[in-house]
Amino acid sequence: LVEEVPYITTPDNVTLEMLRIADVKAGDHVIDLGSGDGRIVVTAAERFGATGLGVEIVPDLVRQSIDSARRAGVADRAAFREQDIFETDLSAATVVTLYLLPEFNLRLRPSLLALKPGTRIVSHDWDMGDWPPDRTVTLDVPDKKIGREKRSRVHLWRVPAPVQGLWCAGAVPLEVQQTFQAYRAVLGAQGAGQSWAGTLDGVSLLPPAGGPPRPVLRWEADGTLVAATAAAGLAAGTRWRRSTGPRCEG
Ligand SMILES: C[S@@+](CC[C@H](N)C(=O)[O-])C[C@H]1O[C@@H](n2cnc3c(N)ncnc32)[C@H](O)[C@@H]1O
Repeated sequence: LVEEVPYITTPDNVTLEMLRIADVKAGDHVIDLGSGDGRIVVTAAERFGATGLGVEIVPDLVRQSIDSARRAGVADRAAFREQDIFETDLSAATVVTLYLLPEFNLRLRPSLLALKPGTRIVSHDWDMGDWPPDRTVTLDVPDKKIGREKRSRVHLWRVPAPVQGLWCAGAVPLEVQQTFQAYRAVLGAQGAGQSWAGTLDGVSLLPPAGGPPRPVLRWEADGTLVAATAAAGLAAGTRWRRSTGPRCEG
């Protein structure tokens, strides 16, 4: 059984904002889940130089999209496939775009959170429940076809790296608590340590603005955390690995 969202197109000014807010450029691969007439993927290829894939359950819309990509001269970079969005492999995406419904966003959320850290997710109108967007832009849409409000919201999320847990740089512990892109770090032994709360921007654990200087920490693809800046008595380049036990051994 395939569950469906009705077909409503994203207006052009909203499509452009979705691609801009995600900073789409050449080298990006944009996957639009429920791609309708293909406009988001075709625009990403034609105007932003990206490659893309649209997945859509209605065969006639898939055909229209393929035609539209051909007419725009981007058939080699914009592909379309008849497929259920819940069956789609998203691992090649650097950007995922959505114009669905709230409960569809929530059902996709675990797969989106499991994507490569830093992957950008953009949703037209609907949010992700208690995973707050990193940015939201509101646009006037005078000819909006649904709802009373003649406005659209565009939300952006960057998939946060999985940093929850105890990390060790030799004997120096770093305990991280994470809720989506919010984190709290405790550096050094409990009691004697320093702690701060900050925000994850994809792979970067940004310190709070203001207050004593704290390092920027970066999650790397090999699963380590590195101090990208020097601060709090740490040298830049200090590297932590996930602890295998309850404490860091020197
Ligand atoms: C609101 S429209 C958005 C179309 C396009 N992304 C846009 O923004 O203009 C949602 C689209 O998702 C498609 N769709 C709904 N449920 C789907 C599913 N389970 N798998 C694939 N496509 C689906 C619908 O046919 C429709 O074209």
